Amino acid sequence: MATDERTALATDLFDKCRRYTAAHEVMAAGLYPYFQPIEASDDTEVVVRGERKIMVGSNNYLGLTHHPHVLESARAALYRYGSGCTGSRFLNGTLDLHETLERRLAGFMGHESALVFSTGYQTNLGAIATLVGRGGVVAQDRLNHASLIDGATLSGGRTVRYAHCDPDSLRQVLAENAERGVLVVTDGVFSMEGDVAPLPAIAALAAEYGARVLVDDAHSVGVMGDRGGGTAQHFGMEGGVDLAMATFSKSFASIGGALAGPEYVIHYLKHHARSLIFSASMPPSAVATVLACLDVVEQEPWRRERLWANAAYLRGGLQALGFDTGLSATPIIPVATGRMMDTFAFWRALFDAGVFTNPVTPPAVPEAECRLRTSVMATHTREQLDAVLAAFGRVGRELGIIAA
Ligand SMILES: Cc1ncc(COP(=O)(O)O)c(C=O)c1O
Repeated sequence: MATDERTALATDLFDKCRRYTAAHEVMAAGLYPYFQPIEASDDTEVVVRGERKIMVGSNNYLGLTHHPHVLESARAALYRYGSGCTGSRFLNGTLDLHETLERRLAGFMGHESALVFSTGYQTNLGAIATLVGRGGVVAQDRLNHASLIDGATLSGGRTVRYAHCDPDSLRQVLAENAERGVLVVTDGVFSMEGDVAPLPAIAALAAEYGARVLVDDAHSVGVMGDRGGGTAQHFGMEGGVDLAMATFSKSFASIGGALAGPEYVIHYLKHHARSLIFSASMPPSAVATVLACLDVVEQEPWRRERLWANAAYLRGGLQALGFDTGLSATPIIPVATGRMMDTFAFWRALFDAGVFTNPVTPPAVPEAECRLRTSVMATHTREQLDAVLAAFGRVGRELGIIAA
């Protein structure tokens, strides 16, 4: 069939693409915030189209992307093993480095065993889809990350949402599904709100109803706990949750992910998780980066202390200016901005003032609850944070988001 004939049919799958104009409208208004090309970076500052911006939109919490030990370890691995693994962990893509990382992470996260995947997203897909399957139930916090939702969809099981961080709502879900295998899934630190899941209550309820728990520690490893071991360590219940997931795309300055848990579960996933088996493994330099980050996390605890001090400083400063920082209790600090176009206008004015933030708009949040997501690093200086606060104050007053 000729292209013209096919596109004339109502069933052409490309129709929605042709009709999609929303992004072009924002571009025409000069407010499009996405896919900004970074030309250079020294972690707390980046260059976009020749202009320096203070970066308060990254997940580089400990500021390790440019640490000399990290860069040197990545370089050494690149030259020893080459640029890529060219195959899956299952076949030719396992290096001794992957196994070393798994042993270190298991200890770091307080579990018996760990399995390294190529991204955090794939880790969540692999863990949830493989363990739940048809007939199972995934109990999800209403504000969980998309990768957790997608893992549940892929599992073929039933997804049931419970109210955000609400043990009573979770209890109801568990009671209604007591006859089925249930996996309770929660972000440890919520990526858009910056609040912390009530893990002790979740783990106790799961134990009461015979359910299993997976905590997504993407924003928690390196950040939460007295050694950076994650949300369970923060609550003094290390190893007290069945499964903990980590990404390497945030504090660990790399890319990849891992699941930590009992050895027999990890062994099963190694032989059944399709997102592990049918995808190439993490490249050597990326694995070496994470190992080096673990060294630094152990050797330089001041980074975690500075991170939390910087977070308190920025959050306190934003609140003093009159901004609503929602539920934030961690280095993730959202700033309420209202509707989508107002949010884009705020983003643009801050960007022009030299501050890089991330707009959060539907479908990630409801239409009237848009926000700019900021996050701090251990390596931000007070001067940088003061400059960010000054820009927020000026733009917020100009746009009427805070009182003049
Ligand atoms: C809570 C959470 N889980 C999982 C992921 C996926 O991690 P990755 O970037 O390693 O694929 C992210 C990253 O956006 C996240 O914020």
